[in-house]
Amino acid sequence: MAKLVVVSNRVSLPSRSGSRAGGLEVALRAVFRDHPGIWFGWSGRVVPHQSIETRTIAANNQQFVVTDLTEEDHSEYYNGFANRVLWPILHYRLDLAEYTLRDLTGYLRVNEHFADELHKVLAPDDLVWVHDYHLIPLAKALRDRGHQNKIGFFLHTPLPPMEILTAIPNHERLFPTLCHYDLVGFQTETDGTNFARYLICECKLPSRDLQTFLANGRSVQLGVFPVGVAVDEIIQWAERGAESSLVRRVVNSLSGRAMLIGVDRLDYSKGIVARLESFERFLLEKPDWQGRITFLQIAPRSRFKIREYAEIEAMVSATAGRINGRFGQPDWTPIRYVNQSHSRRTLAGLYRCARAGLVTPLRDGMNLVAKEYVAAQNPDDPGVLILSRFAGAARECTGALLVNPYDTDTAAEAIAHALTMSQAERRDRYQATIRNLRLNDIADWGKKFLTQLCDTNAELSLFSRLPVTAAPPGRPAEDARSAAFPDDGRSAGTRARRYSAS
Ligand code: UDP
Ligand code: G6P
Repeated sequence: MAKLVVVSNRVSLPSRSGSRAGGLEVALRAVFRDHPGIWFGWSGRVVPHQSIETRTIAANNQQFVVTDLTEEDHSEYYNGFANRVLWPILHYRLDLAEYTLRDLTGYLRVNEHFADELHKVLAPDDLVWVHDYHLIPLAKALRDRGHQNKIGFFLHTPLPPMEILTAIPNHERLFPTLCHYDLVGFQTETDGTNFARYLICECKLPSRDLQTFLANGRSVQLGVFPVGVAVDEIIQWAERGAESSLVRRVVNSLSGRAMLIGVDRLDYSKGIVARLESFERFLLEKPDWQGRITFLQIAPRSRFKIREYAEIEAMVSATAGRINGRFGQPDWTPIRYVNQSHSRRTLAGLYRCARAGLVTPLRDGMNLVAKEYVAAQNPDDPGVLILSRFAGAARECTGALLVNPYDTDTAAEAIAHALTMSQAERRDRYQATIRNLRLNDIADWGKKFLTQLCDTNAELSLFSRLPVTAAPPGRPAEDARSAAFPDDGRSAGTRARRYSAS
């Protein structure tokens, strides 16, 4: 019987204790509630080459198949190409990318290893859903092994314009392999459009509606599927969480002061330093708030073996310490900075007690914390979301105060505005956002993607009935098609014949 096989680097194993930060894990846990199946990915273990294992763990109607990585794999694939090249560049940070051919080779090798292990468990009619930038070439690796399954891909990060994407050395060996999927999903229209433009201008692929492209003798569809949150569950957590002992202790310790909250993985993309500086600016500009407000920043450490992450950790600590030193009093610490991660239940309770949520990434695919903050509010007396215009969540969080996170003055004004906003305006803003969040609950996300994946039809006959609307500029269409994947092992003649046969 057809089953769902979800593949991601990070797997949320049932045995793992404690709470972890990461939107992908949170979203995929929700998918498995409605669609039991196999979750395949990295075990989280790094072992010597001779000890590599792939294990199956069964728990509650679900199976986890996880494979180990060697030290070399972990360094080249995870800490190397995925997180020192793709992550920064996908977040528009060319300046932080450090490319080596060795890391790219390790990245491709781990994708081949994943494909080898998946090959052992895949049945012909299984629906395969691959997630995130770690596994871009996986569909090609599976197709090379003969798998004709429907395979979908979802990118949790942003996808920048081609002018940035093409700065990745060997990008042409990587991004065009996304065309081996049947459906490629993005968080926002901007991300989808950026990729469509890359396919048209850089790969010279013909398209219809900028949504369906022809490549490799088959078709690939692009779609937009913003990740949502489980609104009702968060409301319940927030109501109960606000009564939990930890949340009560926090509230009591504030001694009547207002609280602002920020919750992020400790990642340079989250804009934590600029946010702290906005808070500093606010304290300077509105001195009457000194002593009357506390900013709680929760920032669990992430990818700490990577230099840029160690550097951002040092910068955040230094900035928080400097601001506390500058404004703090014996009986008041302006910023409480916490690296420990917390359960989403506890966070929901804390969100409900905070007068404003500061979610100001410099760039973010979606940002679930923004949505969770709003869902956790008391509808009668809600707090205000201050949100970066560069987070994917900005499209749906229409009631938020949108800010440019690089502009600390304006962000400081937004803090002041949030703290003095009338209850009526806060309610209106809350209602505007919660309506959108309900329309795109996380339960619908998996359903929408998987339904569209099932409906895709890679048969080229579909296209004979549809006009090709975007001819690649500067080249005859046929040449352009054959130039798109020069090293995929098939002759241009074969591709051309396949097209004309359709
Ligand atoms: N999170 C958590 N515990 C923490 C901090 C964060 O469970 O201590 C969760 C948070 O509630 C959210 C996810 O981790 O669901 C972070 O997702 P987001 O999209 O905001 O950012 P990402 O970390 O994926 O870049
Ligand atoms: C983001 C990425 C995910 C990743 C998560 C946590 O959400 O899109 O793919 O799992 O961060 O990062 P980590 O490197 O710890 O898996």
